[in-house]
Amino acid sequence: MATEFPKPPAGLDAQALVQWSADTFGGELALACSAGVEDSVLVHLAAQTGTSVRVFMLDTGRLHPETHETFEALRRRYPQLRFEVYSPEGAEVEALVQAQGGLFGFREGLDQRHACCEVRKLRPLKRALAGSRAWLTGLRREQSPTRMDLLPAAPDGGSPERLKISPLLDWDHTLLWAFAKQHHIPTHPLHEAGFPSIGCAPCTRAIAPGEDLRAGRWWWELPEHKECGLHNRPTKG
Ligand code: ADX
Ligand code: SF4
Repeated sequence: MATEFPKPPAGLDAQALVQWSADTFGGELALACSAGVEDSVLVHLAAQTGTSVRVFMLDTGRLHPETHETFEALRRRYPQLRFEVYSPEGAEVEALVQAQGGLFGFREGLDQRHACCEVRKLRPLKRALAGSRAWLTGLRREQSPTRMDLLPAAPDGGSPERLKISPLLDWDHTLLWAFAKQHHIPTHPLHEAGFPSIGCAPCTRAIAPGEDLRAGRWWWELPEHKECGLHNRPTKG
């Protein structure tokens, strides 16, 4: 039977939705932070709730050093929150790299890429979310056609026993950056170097003007494949 969740009142703005999430789920709420600008803003909103929301990063072992620095800057700026880092299992990474014949086996095909994302992101995500009934993400509709029809709060297609909440769904680039600057929120330095979307270093590059926001992610793949499994499963209302 499908899990029943409390429903947020309609029409809440981002801060109110984060507050509702913290009040409703308490210690069973987690915030997924990749250290991109969306997540920096989300962390700031969580810090205003008066509760110690748990903020986690999936440290895949292939992140840019700037990603770690930004996460650390957020941790120092918002001591009222609880920051945690989840890493892949060492033995699983060794087996993956050996099976793929090297550190860049994920470029050989979609199956290999999914195998890498599974070991480095999805399994740590499972551990990061164990014990949480709801999670906050920085997903925005503007990022991709595959994200256009998401709902601000809906059971997660990947783990329907959990509510996935995306308070910034309707924020556009201009609003996001104006808010980050107005509140002096620490942001990822690579955004200013032409990276609107930042994931693992070997799978992310800068984009040219006019290119799609996610064109720099897994750029050798077709657009419809540009998801890693954190968010590519349909969410149902
Ligand atoms: S991805 O699926 O393509 O990697 P994207 O980079 O757009 O996702 O990020 C969307 C949201 O997923 C982020 O706002 C954040 O909530 C979560 N997320 C992505 N990567 C991570 C990560 N490494 N650690 C924690 N959360 C992440
Ligand atoms: Fe591996 Fe690239 Fe996926 Fe990171 S984004 S887990 S390096 S395939």
